[in-house]
Amino acid sequence: MRVAQITDLTGPQGVSVADRDALVAAAGQLLIDVHAAGINFPDLLMTRGEYQVKPELPFVPGSEIAGVVVSAPADSGFAKGDRVAAFTLLGGIAEQALTSPEYAIKLPDTFTFAQGAALPMNYLTMEFALLRRGGIKASDTVLIHGAAGGIGTAGIQIAKAVGATVIAVASTAEKREVALAAGADHAIPVEGFRDTAKQLTGGRGVDIVVDPVGGDRFTDSLRSLQAEGRLLVIGFTDGEIPTVKVNRLLLNNIDVRGVGWGAFAFARPGYIGTQWASIATLIESGAINPPVGSVYPLEEVGEAIAELGARRAQGKVVIAVR
Ligand SMILES: NC(=O)c1ccc[n+]([C@@H]2O[C@H](COP(=O)([O-])OP(=O)(O)OC[C@H]3O[C@@H](n4cnc5c(N)ncnc54)[C@H](OP(=O)(O)O)[C@@H]3O)[C@@H](O)[C@H]2O)c1
Repeated sequence: MRVAQITDLTGPQGVSVADRDALVAAAGQLLIDVHAAGINFPDLLMTRGEYQVKPELPFVPGSEIAGVVVSAPADSGFAKGDRVAAFTLLGGIAEQALTSPEYAIKLPDTFTFAQGAALPMNYLTMEFALLRRGGIKASDTVLIHGAAGGIGTAGIQIAKAVGATVIAVASTAEKREVALAAGADHAIPVEGFRDTAKQLTGGRGVDIVVDPVGGDRFTDSLRSLQAEGRLLVIGFTDGEIPTVKVNRLLLNNIDVRGVGWGAFAFARPGYIGTQWASIATLIESGAINPPVGSVYPLEEVGEAIAELGARRAQGKVVIAVR
């Protein structure tokens, strides 16, 4: 089978395509013919050895896929031929992948494989972030940075599914269009976002900030919150990890909450299964419909990963593996 392979830590241009032996499922594993694989910011970081997960070289990247089940354990609820999406942690950008049945969800016929590949990492993370860590309510207003990205668009759709109002922050007019198409109520530029958010909330401020970006906008994000607001720390695409003067938290009774989906979910067997059940309900209701941006062939996997590094991604970047 053909796979994407990271053989050195020189960045996206160092990702190549190689041939490997076909996979064999161990007891309890799902074997999947991969049709589409999602690209995430951690893939970019892994090409540089900058992610917290540092596999031994060479390795096959790719934490999420959509495809067709080749074989499944008898009691898993899956059968040969099922269309599925699944979290794989690694090894997903390949013609075949293995995973645990708990990490997979059946795809509705209305979903393309590319949309399926957009689900696992970002929708599981944002379900955890908004519902569990953020305590989101229908009456909340949620401000989402990086709103046209993978995490951003997933956050918009899960917040809207709950009934909240969403203010999307994105750096270009094209990205703001993507955020609005994903379901955001408002889409505003990065410059002056704090004042604009205050205006849009009648001077009150927002209840939740979703921050996958970090950097120097962090203080203004804290200032955008109303009393008892929560800032969800998701990631640092800006490259700078912000620091916080805790008097700001005291002054307005606000919380900064870390969101580490993997650390939480993998330590709790069964948790991802409950998340998939929650997401399946949202898919059935039509609330979740992932916006797909660029689709690349497997041979151009390096370019696909570089798109995230160049801050160009609009919607989910996907590899069409077959
Ligand atoms: N905590 C968790 O459990 C968890 C899980 C999954 C992912 N993450 C993290 O979430 C973050 C977002 O991932 P993603 O897959 O959504 O990435 P993405 O699709 O590339 O979106 C990231 C967004 O960040 C913004 N950005 C600001 N400065 C940037 C820069 N210098 N370079 C690139 N982007 C920049 C861009 O929006 P604008 O141009 O509009 O500003 C971009 O759309 C990453 O840090 C990732 O590691 C965390």
